[in-house]
Amino acid sequence: MQTYHRLESLMNLAPGYRREFIVAGRQMLLLQEGDVTALVENRCPHQGFSLVDARIKGGVLTCAAHAVSFSLRSGEVQPGAAFHCSALKVYELIYRGNEVGVYLD
Ligand code: FES
Repeated sequence: MQTYHRLESLMNLAPGYRREFIVAGRQMLLLQEGDVTALVENRCPHQGFSLVDARIKGGVLTCAAHAVSFSLRSGEVQPGAAFHCSALKVYELIYRGNEVGVYLD
């Protein structure tokens, strides 16, 4: 059964926002860049580095460690990656009243 986990008040979200969470044992990164708000696993699929210092532009997150890029919508690795790795886990955000959260098993 999935359980709702509150993450943040909407009033705290703004361009440039980044905050790390550990929810149900999972490392997550909530971020906002431009008009994109996303919740991703805070662990790069390449070698597991934190993504808190990743570069984000145009809906694409680029890991600061070895520059593999991922779509913030689908998690897919972007063309041109120098390393093979799997997609980044992107979680669906749930908006409830004045807060945002996530459903997890
Ligand atoms: S750990 Fe992210 S690209 Fe290597």
